[in-house]
Amino acid sequence: MLKTHGCGELRAGHAGQVVALAGWVHRRRDHGGLIFLDLRDRSGIVQVVCNPAISAEAHQVASQCRNEYVLQVRGTVQCRPQGLVNPDLPTGEIEVAADEVTILNPAKTTPIYINVEDEVDEAVRLRYRYLDLRRPRMQRNIILRHRVVKFIRDYLDAQGFIEIETPILIKSTPEGARDYVVPSRVHPGKFYALPQSPQQLKQLLMVAGFEKYFQIARCFRDEDLRADRQPEFTQLDLEMSFVDQEDVLQLIEGLFTALVRELEPETGKRLQQTPFPRLSYDEAMARYGTDKPDLRYGLELVDISDLVAGCGFRVFTQTVAEGGQVKALVAPGCAAYSRRQVDELTSLVQKQGAGGLVTVAVQEGELKSPVTRFLSGGELEAMVQRTGARVGDLICIVADQPPVVARALDALRRELATRLSLADPNLLAFCWVLDFPLLEWNEEEGRWNAVHHPFTSAKDEDWVLLESGDPGRAKAKAYDLVLNGWEVGGGSIRIHRREQQALMFRTLGITPQEAQAQFGHMLEAFEYGAPPHGGIAPGIDRLVAILAGEPNIKEVMAFPKTQTAMDLMTQAPSEISPRQLAELHICLTLNKVGQA
Ligand code: AMO
Ligand code: AMP
Repeated sequence: MLKTHGCGELRAGHAGQVVALAGWVHRRRDHGGLIFLDLRDRSGIVQVVCNPAISAEAHQVASQCRNEYVLQVRGTVQCRPQGLVNPDLPTGEIEVAADEVTILNPAKTTPIYINVEDEVDEAVRLRYRYLDLRRPRMQRNIILRHRVVKFIRDYLDAQGFIEIETPILIKSTPEGARDYVVPSRVHPGKFYALPQSPQQLKQLLMVAGFEKYFQIARCFRDEDLRADRQPEFTQLDLEMSFVDQEDVLQLIEGLFTALVRELEPETGKRLQQTPFPRLSYDEAMARYGTDKPDLRYGLELVDISDLVAGCGFRVFTQTVAEGGQVKALVAPGCAAYSRRQVDELTSLVQKQGAGGLVTVAVQEGELKSPVTRFLSGGELEAMVQRTGARVGDLICIVADQPPVVARALDALRRELATRLSLADPNLLAFCWVLDFPLLEWNEEEGRWNAVHHPFTSAKDEDWVLLESGDPGRAKAKAYDLVLNGWEVGGGSIRIHRREQQALMFRTLGITPQEAQAQFGHMLEAFEYGAPPHGGIAPGIDRLVAILAGEPNIKEVMAFPKTQTAMDLMTQAPSEISPRQLAELHICLTLNKVGQA
């Protein structure tokens, strides 16, 4: 190798040793007589001092160097003189006196500063991702990701899991998003779909008798992108035979507990609570208005429908009369919020579809609210009692149908937590959300959709609901892992009998012909001794982003895409040549939007 040591490895104990280093010029300071080069490689930064009295030649080369030049340096490690020790640098006690400096490659002025942690335009970062990745923050994130994946592999291997790769060119497997498709040259007019997940394949691996499978699996979904969504992302995909829900929860809880503890020195993050709290879906919706609550703070929703059902405020009484809800959230210490601040909260809930927001400020000896004149003293007092509001607090109330109230108060709860800094960034609040509904009604298409996916089993006692025409009440053997308000994993116990899978497809409005065409291989496989099985798929990108304290999963992916699914570095997607199109038997007639 061109180096004997990493730049960041050198300590006072190396003093007197002759070393060879190789890396990038992080910073150069020319003090007339002496030139100081901060040399950087993956391991860290060390100061190189070029003294013409030691080597005139090295000093001469150093005088030509600029930031990000790639160098090899030979020299002697020496302790820095008293008073010049840099306590901010792990190598701050020493420096390397250069005997020889070789420029391995010069560098143009980089469009991104590597040595300053400033805000850089996202488009520039993605266009020059290889430079962006040189920055210490990104190096830390990508190395953390490596450690997470390595830990997972070792842990699961020790538990008897086998890592198996599954194909990328497959048949569409629905996870609720659009597919990315790949045209076939050999089969004109036919397409592969990229997997939204290896769901069917991992189930077939259970039929194949592997019993415990996992994969660090790439998934592809053509959907609207957000901070926690990329068009391609990575799952820890996992499946087990002869298990029930409890086995999967225990395995994952053990894995993540051990992982978090192992990485704590690096991340500074610790678990809020073990065992992970468990909530039913209904409970999560009732208490937090979401199936992915951030449990680092309270701010629970309180149902006050019964207290105001007969009050004099029409919005409340009418909502309750129409089968809706009136629910409240206490904003601690916000009683003195100004009109403008209350208006901001009101427009926040209105963006979620709520008609408005009623606030009640609990002040010493009085309650201030636009609706006090419509509510009796007893009604107001009961409201304060029920919500547990104290002097100085602001009670926020929304009245509407349950889904709207949930959406509005979930948004309000998260906004207040941000404004009041209620979420400790060093805490990891995992929880399980269980007992999801099996199906949800698709108003647009007038049919049932699977909440998780069509391979998820109903609870044993709920299969009859599918047969008796009341499938909406069926619960699923499905579970989500939630961390700090993000869904970091989802899974289920699967259907493993042909009749039940066929019943499920029927319930989803899939005809037997369609089921055969799309999923015939699954139905058939279930007839050849399919074991009971289940699994889960935690999202690696989301997990690592939270561990790294990053707000967007892009920051923990080496080469992510933009919000419009573009790769700005390679300019994908891009046109292909007429010859490639012809080979694929494709003739483009794009509409106006596509402008071809
Ligand atoms: P699900 O669709 O819930 O389940 O996905 C599992 C987890 O994958 C992550 N995830 C994403 N991460 C980044 N970008 C995306 N676009 C994205 N979409 C999903 C989330 C999510 O919790 N086959 C089933 C799993 C199973 O049943 O075993 C599945 O894919 O963290
Ligand atoms: P309005 O009768 O529309 O003038 O509303 C009177 C007050 O009730 C205002 O403070 C509104 O923000 C609030 N409000 C209106 N609709 C709702 C609702 N569905 N839930 C809670 N507050 C509401």
